[in-house]
Amino acid sequence: MDYDLRAQPARATTDADGRSVPDASTERWFQAVAQGFHDARMRPRGLDVAVRAAAADGATLRGAYLTDPPPLDLDPHTPVATFISFDKTLNVGGGRLLPLHMITDVTVRPTHRRRGLLRQMMTTDLTEARDAGLPMAALTVSEGSIYGRFGFGAATWLRHISLDTSRRFGLRDEASGRVEMVDPHACADVVRDVFERFHARERGSVDRPSWYPEWVTGRYDPTSDEPDQRRRAAVHHDGSGTVDGYVSYRVEQDGQGPRQLAIQDLVTASDDAYLGLWQFLAAVDLVENVTFSRAPMEDPLEFALADPRLYSVTRLEDVIWLRVLDVVAALEAREWVQDGSVLLGVRDAMGMAEGTFRVEVRDRRAEVTRSDREPEVVLDVTTLGSLYLGGVTVRTLRRSNRFEGTPDALDRFARLMELPTRPYCVTRY
Ligand SMILES: CC(C)(COP(=O)(O)OP(=O)(O)OC[C@H]1O[C@@H](n2cnc3c(N)ncnc32)[C@H](O)[C@@H]1OP(=O)(O)O)[C@@H](O)C(=O)NCCC(=O)NCCS
Repeated sequence: MDYDLRAQPARATTDADGRSVPDASTERWFQAVAQGFHDARMRPRGLDVAVRAAAADGATLRGAYLTDPPPLDLDPHTPVATFISFDKTLNVGGGRLLPLHMITDVTVRPTHRRRGLLRQMMTTDLTEARDAGLPMAALTVSEGSIYGRFGFGAATWLRHISLDTSRRFGLRDEASGRVEMVDPHACADVVRDVFERFHARERGSVDRPSWYPEWVTGRYDPTSDEPDQRRRAAVHHDGSGTVDGYVSYRVEQDGQGPRQLAIQDLVTASDDAYLGLWQFLAAVDLVENVTFSRAPMEDPLEFALADPRLYSVTRLEDVIWLRVLDVVAALEAREWVQDGSVLLGVRDAMGMAEGTFRVEVRDRRAEVTRSDREPEVVLDVTTLGSLYLGGVTVRTLRRSNRFEGTPDALDRFARLMELPTRPYCVTRY
């Protein structure tokens, strides 16, 4: 079967109500994504949000189209495979933001799977990104077994937590600042501003696609295609009255069972705001349990509680998978805290990051150069992606047989890669 692989931007006009109306090919592309993820067909408000965001983000919509569609095909002009990418930034620590090539909406119609369509789209997309000078690519995954073969390694993780906020709840010390409830549908500017400050300070954070404020504020609810009328929000003010954190949540009830407060998004630019918002959430009456599926792996809340056993981790989830495209640019931008050097051999089945590199760190900055010498430590590019932000250590991956190298070289590499904290990415996309 022959396929025509094409790429296009998101194209739309604006109607009298200011709504984005996609052209036919753009709408078909988004409807193919909805089908690929078994979602309902997209309706006008959802298309408005998705298309407007894709246009604002300068996204490339890739599709595979049948050159010879059979009669009674679903729609001969609808792609049988989709893949979207756009460029934003990754916080790599040390106050630096690295350009990041972000990939999502990867689908292949069941009748065309396992014929290499994903591989073709991925190879074209990553090659173009590397040729355009992007040092790193990222995606989130539906299944853990798909993307290692393309050089991606899991790099950040989130905790799903459940907090008992019954009468036993209390913080060891009262949180500072002040919390007020706000109209969730009217706080998009606050959401953008607080996230920007979070993104600037937190290693591991990826910048958010442009649709995010619509979802965080509940102005768009994918399940109803309408504003979410159950959404509530609160903001935290610091001592000077500046907003430095927000929470967006819903209170849900299963039949006559107990009510549960489910946090949709909680982002803060300070530790006071984080604990202050939790103190507020725990004080919401008629609710005895709060859930949050985006908590950091090292969560200050757990240790701020008078009784840490009120805090349970219900699941761990890998979030961002990284793929190094340019070893020199990526490693030179990274945060380093230990001086030292190593000759690193990177293996890459796609050839993009393959080579031997001398990494020399002095005064928290790395100088990275290609080398013809024998590497001291050899690793796969997927392992480099997992190590990059410090989400996992060399010591652990050594025990998983992820390296070749002498004990001495591996000890040196382990010290060199050390970072003081684990990364925190609060964004799924
Ligand atoms: C996942 C999906 C995009 C794969 O597309 P595809 O066109 O069938 O993939 P390809 O034929 O290009 O396969 C590429 C490689 O990935 C492997 N692969 C594909 N899907 C896989 C899966 N679900 N699990 C493990 N391996 C998988 C193939 O075996 C092949 O391996 P090889 O090249 O080493 O031999 C497709 O099955 C799909 O649309 N799934 C539902 C939506 C989804 O999960 N999307 C991913 C969102 S992150």
